[in-house]
Amino acid sequence: MDNHSAMPLPTMMPSASLQSLNTLAVPATAAFLARVSSVEQLRAVLAWRKQEAGQGDPLPIMALGGGSNVVLAADFPGLVLQIDIQGRDIIAEDDDYVWLKVGAGENWHQLVEFCMNFHYWGLENLALIPGSVGAAPIQNIGAYGVELCDYFSELSAVEIKSGLSVNFDKTACRFGYRDSIFKQQMKDRYIITSVTFKLRKEPAVVCEYPALKQFFEQQSEEGLEYGVEPPSPHRVFDAVCSIRQSKLPDPDVIPNVGSFFKNPVVTQEQYQNLQQQHEGLVGYPVENGQIKLAAGWLIDQAGWRGYQQNSVGVHKDQALVLVNPGHASGAEILLLAKKIQDDIKAKFGVVLEVEPRIYQ
Ligand code: EPU
Repeated sequence: MDNHSAMPLPTMMPSASLQSLNTLAVPATAAFLARVSSVEQLRAVLAWRKQEAGQGDPLPIMALGGGSNVVLAADFPGLVLQIDIQGRDIIAEDDDYVWLKVGAGENWHQLVEFCMNFHYWGLENLALIPGSVGAAPIQNIGAYGVELCDYFSELSAVEIKSGLSVNFDKTACRFGYRDSIFKQQMKDRYIITSVTFKLRKEPAVVCEYPALKQFFEQQSEEGLEYGVEPPSPHRVFDAVCSIRQSKLPDPDVIPNVGSFFKNPVVTQEQYQNLQQQHEGLVGYPVENGQIKLAAGWLIDQAGWRGYQQNSVGVHKDQALVLVNPGHASGAEILLLAKKIQDDIKAKFGVVLEVEPRIYQ
């Protein structure tokens, strides 16, 4: 069995600021903060927490990766663990695939670049998504026609209660649109320590997403040869980077957490009703004959794009992104989100669900 006392306990910082650790730049604090760079350290911290609690309730835990999908609406009265576990290892390969095991603390975009350099294909559409590898499965990150689950093999996680490691395969993760078991039944029960990807040795580019298609069509009008052959994964990667940079604010420059709301899914009937009332309504068919509406379009049509209220606002080029240039509190951001939700409900009869994790 594990001998917790022999493991290195990382430094515990009391009353630590989390402002530089969340991409919304919200000025919240944590009762304790520790940076964890190995599974052993993680177990040591969890054992310390148990010991400190004695017979009482242990401190609540927040695992932070890049802090790019959280809204800290209050100071956190517990222990924040900055997961900094590194490592990229090929653990298996066959003629068609490589299985790459990656530490949860690795930066997502750097992983995508690494895969491009070594010709492990599949993740190119997910370029420039802020955040860490360990956070990516929790919300099944997705962009431009690809989702993490398309190239996912399994993950390792440590159970908070027992300190034991458990593996979750793809089925066990119950991936959905911006969803997984770690947002549902297993919420706050595990800390992800590594993710194993199953990547292709031969490229299979995905470039049917409207914005991507449009980008390549425009390039071909400008004399580039898209249309003759599918673009290379490198060109898809460059295109995704270029589209993202033109529409989405860089969190290092303008604090944000990407899309603030999920795209709502409605029935065919609701969609047709809305279409009759709102010309140009944007929606894409998804499973069970339902339609996923572009929340950005709804918010934009309702007049919110570019809106600014004190220190918070709605991005000028993408209405799905709330921005926090004045480093306002999480509560202030949620207030604006609520106004937008109420307005969209009133104008379109559609409920917008907040996408990032809220701590309050
Ligand atoms: N649109 C507008 N006005 C806006 C924003 C969007 O009219 O202000 C329209 C666009 O013209 C387009 C449609 O809405 O016709 C969809 O816009 P876009 O392609 O930019 O994608 P999205 O649905 O707004 C989703 C993801 C993004 C991801 C992009 C590309 C969600 C919640 N968001 O955004 O993910 O990058 O598709 O695949 O699914 C994130 O999760 O943080 C994120 C940025």
